[in-house]
Amino acid sequence: SAGAYTFDPGFMATASCESKITFIDGDKGILLHRGYPIEQLAEKADYLDTCYLLLNGELPTAEQKAQFTDVIKNHTMVHEQLKSFFNGFRRDAHPMAILCGVVGALSAFYHDSLDNNNPQHREISAHRLIAKMPTIAAMAYKYSIGQPMMYPRNDLGYAENFLHMMFNTPCEEKPISPVLAKAMDRIFVLHADHEQNASTSTVRSVGSTGANPFACIAAGIAALWGPAHGGANEAVLLMLDEIGTVENVEKFLAKAKDKNDPFKLMGFGHRVYKNFDPRARVMKKTCDEVLAELGINDPQLELAMKLEEIALKDPYFAERNLYPNVDFYSGIILKAIGIPTSMFTVIFALSRTVGWISHWKEMLSGPYKINRPRQLYTGSVKRDIP
Ligand code: SDX
Repeated sequence: SAGAYTFDPGFMATASCESKITFIDGDKGILLHRGYPIEQLAEKADYLDTCYLLLNGELPTAEQKAQFTDVIKNHTMVHEQLKSFFNGFRRDAHPMAILCGVVGALSAFYHDSLDNNNPQHREISAHRLIAKMPTIAAMAYKYSIGQPMMYPRNDLGYAENFLHMMFNTPCEEKPISPVLAKAMDRIFVLHADHEQNASTSTVRSVGSTGANPFACIAAGIAALWGPAHGGANEAVLLMLDEIGTVENVEKFLAKAKDKNDPFKLMGFGHRVYKNFDPRARVMKKTCDEVLAELGINDPQLELAMKLEEIALKDPYFAERNLYPNVDFYSGIILKAIGIPTSMFTVIFALSRTVGWISHWKEMLSGPYKINRPRQLYTGSVKRDIP
């Protein structure tokens, strides 16, 4: 048993590592960050509270929160020379390609002065990454639309600052709607961490070689990009566009069930959850709140709800415990905030940076060995060249 939880030997045999950060019970649809249910964090904490919790194990006191917020605000700018990296990309490059390249390039700016073995330096790396990801993400968007990049502002909140850098221009700086800033912050909280998912396992694996944290996070971004993982939020909106109307839902469900058809119902199913993804429930509730507050009647939300209703009644999905996951509704909120589809996975990567770096920090804070999975060899037996 590990602390308060006991696991069956079968589970222990497959566990890849121990961690104190996040607990998931896939059968019951439970997600806890340092013991706190995601539903409560989404309602009562903001993203910087959640970052502090994931990094340090406790929610911050008012004084700790003020100090942490100050540190983050004072690291939001990037080295001015970093801008030149963007010019190497085509304007129509996918923002995830730009994010992956530019975050990896941070190794060339900040890594030399940081020693992975020094706990203070690990803290500085974590703070720098959490602070700079919104700036780099917004720079990638501005580059893709040919607009000048906006500098971060220290008088704005974390999510507010990101939306400022995304949507304001030097010609006109409009105040950011508190409704949109709150919805953006909620999205950040819901994507912050999720145990040993593919991208977090990638960050731990790269970190286990002693690579610098910026290279580790760039590897996590690359892993997240796939449509089976973080790329699903963008794929859900594209899928809803393709389905078009409620009348087409049955046709697409048939495609999803056809083993000869590569089509999967995007935003449905999960490696661990065999019940509702608790984040999907909060996301759906946030969807209703944000669209109501903005007075938006989005036909894609109607379509998504109908699709969920019909799929959950379908024996194929019920027998396989396939439920909506975190990506099913997130795209509809992001669209309501004004985020273009191409930036959806970038938002996921921005949010998950704290999860990745918290796992990196946890691993390096104790004894660890280089990650070296073994294999089941099914190739030729030893033979000689004739
Ligand atoms: C994320 O790991 C994490 O924690 C990830 C994540 C995080 O926060 O980091 O939660 C974020 O990645 C969420 C998942 C986003 N991806 C998608 O929404 C893409 C669509 N989903 C599928 O690609 C799929 O559900 C996976 C990849 C998520 C899981 O695939 P698995 O491991 O094959 O799922 P499974 O073992 O439960 O599948 C059981 C059956 C299989 O059919 P049979 O062989 O039993 O006949 O269900 C089928 C699968 O083919 N199936 C689907 C399906 N998902 C599984 N059939 C149709 N549509 C789907 N979406």
